[in-house]
Amino acid sequence: MSRGDIFIELDDIVKVFPGVRALDGVSIKIAEGKVHALCGENGAGKSTLIKVMTGVHARDGGDYRIDGKTVNFKSTKEAIDAGVSCVYQELSIAPQLDVAKNLFIGNLPMKGHIIDHKTLYEKSEEILKFLEMDISPHMIAGDLSVGQQQMIEIGRALTRNARLIIMDEPTSSLSEAETDTLFKVIKTLVEDRNMAIIYISHKLDEVMELADWITVIRDGKNIISKAKTDFTQAELVKNMIGRPLENLYMKEPAEITDTMLEVNHLTRDGVFDDISFKVRKGEVVGFFGLVGAGRSEIMRAIFGVDKYNSGEVILDGKKLKGGDPAKAIENGIGFCTEDRKKEGLALKISILSNMTLVKLKALSHGGVVDRVAQRRAADKYMKSISIKAPSVNQLVGNLSGGNQQKVVVAKWLLMDPKVLIVDEPTRGIDVGSKSEIYSILSDLAKQGMAIIVVSSEVEEIMGVCDKVITIAEGKKTGEMAITPELTREHILSCALGTETDFSAETDGEKKEEVKENG
Ligand SMILES: Nc1ncnc2c1ncn2[C@@H]1O[C@H](COP(=O)(O)OP(=O)(O)OP(=O)(O)O)[C@@H](O)[C@H]1O
Ligand SMILES: [Mg+2]
Repeated sequence: MSRGDIFIELDDIVKVFPGVRALDGVSIKIAEGKVHALCGENGAGKSTLIKVMTGVHARDGGDYRIDGKTVNFKSTKEAIDAGVSCVYQELSIAPQLDVAKNLFIGNLPMKGHIIDHKTLYEKSEEILKFLEMDISPHMIAGDLSVGQQQMIEIGRALTRNARLIIMDEPTSSLSEAETDTLFKVIKTLVEDRNMAIIYISHKLDEVMELADWITVIRDGKNIISKAKTDFTQAELVKNMIGRPLENLYMKEPAEITDTMLEVNHLTRDGVFDDISFKVRKGEVVGFFGLVGAGRSEIMRAIFGVDKYNSGEVILDGKKLKGGDPAKAIENGIGFCTEDRKKEGLALKISILSNMTLVKLKALSHGGVVDRVAQRRAADKYMKSISIKAPSVNQLVGNLSGGNQQKVVVAKWLLMDPKVLIVDEPTRGIDVGSKSEIYSILSDLAKQGMAIIVVSSEVEEIMGVCDKVITIAEGKKTGEMAITPELTREHILSCALGTETDFSAETDGEKKEEVKENG
């Protein structure tokens, strides 16, 4: 077969879950040597379609053909044997095994009854070289970065002679450099090895860069499917969310008043060093830096999940005792963490209970939860950030990835804190809901909340914040007001640590006073 030939076809696929028709007649064709992007809102059915393709779910209707023959995979193993591999977002690396064994897991080269170590390590070297990974096949996989682990998963697909590799939001936890490498590898796979890639991402500029063909689905149905060159990004967005999106960022001016949070010389040895800043009522302060710069660690220390060695955190004039998140919540700090699966969500309980977890005290009277108030509070955010689920009683574990994220964001918005810290608030969230979240943040600032946004997207920082603080290798390298003159490049240089700029440091006034008096 040659490049562009269709070898996988799904026709009119139906998949039903209790209360949800997740796929309602989706059709898609996959060609050799091409990148096919699958786009759609949170809950549109993308991951479900992938799970039907990889044998995780059995379809309830429709036909699935490979090379013209109908297939009915009963396990992921059967799909893999037929050439369909998937790199899931929740990686399936065995952390205690070395790289070579991870590459060939379930498929180890054997000599009789024992592992053929010579072949194993030789072949692994070859694959690592192809992936441009400068690591030893003997390295323990658990010591690799997330990006490297993901590459190992791609390598694993190669050892299984995959013809199609499916990637479901592969770049959501990758650094920029890792993303670049991934793109290079994808291009080599399609161009030199004639492999097909299905690429799912909410980062639409990635889709526009990589894809040859784009299919948009909504509510489990096909909306449009055509060559990337026939799409504009605006048209893509319109097809995804069903309406044009004029303005992604809706930052309205808020009145910025008294200092609400003051952080002085906060230091955690070896992680971050001498971090000082203030956030005032009504102000939105962005924290920007490369993945691993220490931004999330600073927030974790402020909130009390991690300890710090020196420095202080003052909230509303009162010094906080470190290392006590329950106290931080009680005092009015809300923290929507980056790693929501691990720290923010209880998958086995309902949307309603998850959302109102931190708010329970306020919704209770004399120790009894006011169910009506609880329900009303949850319903408000179900609508405003469009959480897609049959009801607020649905278990969070049954929601799509993006909708799970929205539940955590809603939980902290509901808490109505004095200071709200949101770490990568829109990761994995579709573009329509992103815009809703930005507009909610803007409203909260208008009501006087002090807000910190940690983000790896410089556009997001520039779109929603009043000022930006840059962090490079655990040190503060800049504090700048977001003005029309401020450039993306300047922020990036400060985040890389090649420039510094403290032009908007809040205690600038104080320093001048001292000068005058002296
Ligand atoms: N195991 C399940 N039980 C019940 N409902 C489910 C289950 N898995 C998925 N769903 C529902 O099916 C629909 C499609 O979900 P899916 O995960 O395919 O969305 P998605 O397009 O991947 O969204 P996202 O961009 O948020 O990842 C959603 O309404 C979801 O709640
Ligand atoms: Mg998904």
